Order: sequence, then C-alpha cells, then structure tokens
Amino acid sequence: MYRVALEGRGDFNEWRDAARAFLSANVTPQEIDWRFQGEEKSLFGFEEGDRLPPSGGSASVNVPSAFIPLAQTIICHSAPERFSLLYRLLWRLGQDRALLQFKSDPDVSEARKMEKSVRRDSHKMTAFVRFKELPLPEGVAARRRFIAWFEPDHFIVERKAAFFQRRFTDMDWVIATPKGSARWDGKTLQTSRLAAEQPDLSDETDELWRTYYANIFNPARLKIKAMTAEMPKKYWKNLPEADLIPGLILNAEARVLEMGAKAATEPQLFHHRIQAAAESRPAPVLPDADTLEGLKHEAKGCTLCPLHCKATQTVFGEGPVSADVMVVGEQPGDFEDLAGRPFVGPAGKVFDQVLGETGIERQSLYVTNAVKHFKYEARGKKRIHQRPDAGEVQRCRWWLTREIDLVQPKLIVAMGATAMFALTDLKEKLSDMRGRPMPMDGGRMLFVTVHPSYLLRIPDEQRKVEEFQRFREDMQAVRRLMEVGPASAAVLSA
Ligand code: URA
Repeated sequence: MYRVALEGRGDFNEWRDAARAFLSANVTPQEIDWRFQGEEKSLFGFEEGDRLPPSGGSASVNVPSAFIPLAQTIICHSAPERFSLLYRLLWRLGQDRALLQFKSDPDVSEARKMEKSVRRDSHKMTAFVRFKELPLPEGVAARRRFIAWFEPDHFIVERKAAFFQRRFTDMDWVIATPKGSARWDGKTLQTSRLAAEQPDLSDETDELWRTYYANIFNPARLKIKAMTAEMPKKYWKNLPEADLIPGLILNAEARVLEMGAKAATEPQLFHHRIQAAAESRPAPVLPDADTLEGLKHEAKGCTLCPLHCKATQTVFGEGPVSADVMVVGEQPGDFEDLAGRPFVGPAGKVFDQVLGETGIERQSLYVTNAVKHFKYEARGKKRIHQRPDAGEVQRCRWWLTREIDLVQPKLIVAMGATAMFALTDLKEKLSDMRGRPMPMDGGRMLFVTVHPSYLLRIPDEQRKVEEFQRFREDMQAVRRLMEVGPASAAVLSA
C-alpha cells in the first residue's frame, strides 16, 4: 500500500503533483491510501509495510477538459474520500475518456454531488458574509477596515477570495473562518489555510442592520420554502438579522393585509384623465359582439352609467366560455378595480377557500359581477365600497345578459342580493330564496347564496363560524347540482 498525506485544504496542485507521480508509476487506485493532515489517522502514522509515493515521476496526463474544473472544485470538499475519488476518476479516464458523460456511474455521480455541494457552499458564502466595521485608532487616517466571520462547510476561502476582492475593493477586510481566512488591504490579497478563532463581532451596527432588514422585509413576497432552502438555518447563527426572521414570518399575513388596505387607495393619477375623457364621450350606441373576448373588449369603454367616471377600469367576467356554471357577485371591490379581475381581494380569498374545501375548481367556473365598475365613496385616501343602486344594476344587466347568452351556463349561482336582483329582478329577502335551486329561462337553474364579503363583516366569532359553515354547505349543494346536472336538479327542486 502506498501512502500519501496531503495538506488537503483546497489546493489542487498539491493533489495533482501526487496523482501524476502515482500515474506515471502505474500505481492503481486500490494501492493508494490518501490521507490529509489533520485527519485523525495520520496523527498516528501509517501501518507497517506502507510505502511512500513514488518520487520524480510526473507523467503529463491527457484528460478531457471538463475534468480539470471538476477536480478543482471537488478538491475543496471537506470529505476525506475526495482524493481517492479523484484519482479513481483520473485512472478510469485513461481507459475511457467519455467516462464523465455517464452520470449514473457511481464515481461520476459521487463527484457531481461533491461538486454541487462545494458550489452551493460558495454561493452561500457570497450571500451570507456580513462585514463589521472595525474602529480606526484615534488620529489615524486610513481606509475603513472590516471583518467578517463565516463558517463554510468546505475549503472554499481561497476559491472565493477574489470575488470579495472585486466586490469590496475600496475597503480593507478580513474574512475569518474555521477553514482558513482571506485578507485584502487594497494592494494584496492574502489567504491563510489556518483555522481562525471566532472574533467577538456583536456591536451596535447589528442593531442598525436589523432595523434595515426588518424595514426592507416584504411580507407580500414571502416564500418560506424558498427562503429556508436558500438560507439554511445553519447560517443563521452568524446573521444579526436571523432572530428577527421567525417573528417577521409570523406577522407576514397580517402585514400583507395591512399593506393591501393601505395600497388600495385612490386610482393612479392618469385615471382621472381617462375618466374625464370618458365623461365627455357621447352616449354609446351599444355594440353587440358575438364572442366573449369581443364583448369584454367593448365593455372596456362602457359609459352606460356614471360609475365608469370614478372607477379605474371595467372589471369583466372571466372563465371558460364553455363553463357549465356561472357565478355572479355584486361589483368589483377596491382590489378588483385595481387588478382588473373579479374576486381577487379579501372576498375572493374567502370564495377561493370555500371552493377549495368543497372540491370545486375555480377555473371551471365563469365568474362575473352584476355591475362591472367599482362604486365607492372617497374618504381621505380610502375608497369605501358603496352598494350599486337599482338603476345601476339594471343598466349593467345589459352586459350580464350578453355574458349569459354567450356562455350558456346550465347553473347560475347568485352571491348576494344584488346578484339575485340582477338575475331575477326580484327584491325578495335573500334568506327566502337561499339554497333552493330555481328554474330560469333557457332551462337553466339559479341557486342563491350569500356574498362572501358578508361573512367577513360578521363581528361575532361564533356566528361567523356558523355562517361560514352554511356557505360551505351551499357550495356543496352547488357541487352536487354540477354533478347531477340542471335537468335532474329541476326534478329535485320540484
Ligand atoms: N365583491 C364582488 O361582488 N365582486 C368582486 O369581484 C369582488 C368583491
């Protein structure tokens, strides 16, 4: 058995010289015991009969070009097996130059895993190194000095040092790690392979950084899975912001709602110009598109009632033209007015949630509103929802009727009294009509239920739970109607 002990701290040349010597002496991978200094075994020396590596030989080895960067990366890995794996690959490449293309080969697959791990560690180092400024001695005018502590998994400091030199070239810095350190003083980049001691780096700049971090944290962009994948917990202990993260995550939903409430204010300034232009337009000659897309396009310019003057845009229905079920709400709310799509705000969330719980796919429904413009009263910066009056609903019925003509749904679900009125012209109490499928023109069925925003307004928690449950039951009934079809539903309801 040949033995070789390498310093083994990410130095490719060190391994390459030894490997060349073995290769030129035709020593097989099985005959070599690769160790690195610091590895427990090497402290106790080698066993009797072990031989030193052959000296002097340095065959020039012809390997595929992909092997060199792979080996340069793998050599930074901290696993002791990296040297023997690389030599095995080198040996086998002599017999089969295409070896690296066989991803399922156990040696190649192991090598790719190691390569990935080193690359990931390098990426984490660029993301999670946090410099702290060190005070300059009194009266000394010099460049600002910074220090950072980082704990990499592998021997990557030399590999990444040039990156930090380029990025932080106008300051002096030291990056200390238990696997070596790097230092830049504006002229020379130095690296050391010795393990550094962790310096005490907590100071008042942490507080600044934490405040900054908490302020730029955007709860609406929170993706916890991606965040924990990108920022594994093992790095947290050296990040001053780390202990803020659980609290920020916990409060994210509440903050999103708060941001939403603040964001959903006045339409953008240019809408006033559009609205002014629309107001001065002559009354339209109603078009009559024969496709849903055409109808939607025409509705964009609707001036049938004054609501278009203040709303941001027409919010038309959406969903498949072949939908069997059409759901009709009241009118777009604040969020819908800005987004241009129905049921995307808080009421839409309730709607989506209950659909999910009852197993109805929203994409299978055509979802629209009785009135296509947002009616509101401006209070300060807030736009407070106002119920459309009967005249507005009647005018907007022109669009709803065209939508029904084109979609030809078998079942229409009216959510709330406004939708019920738009569809039936009845001003009955909603509770009298709720939950009973009723026949409509064209052989279709009407099913009346409450509007989801009603559920959001119930102050009493216990009642809220009960009303949510009733709404769920209504939607389960809708689901059953979807399954049996309206003809049988007519029989059921008779
Ligand atoms: N309420 C509605 O009636 N429709 C929407 O699109 C949103 C809220």
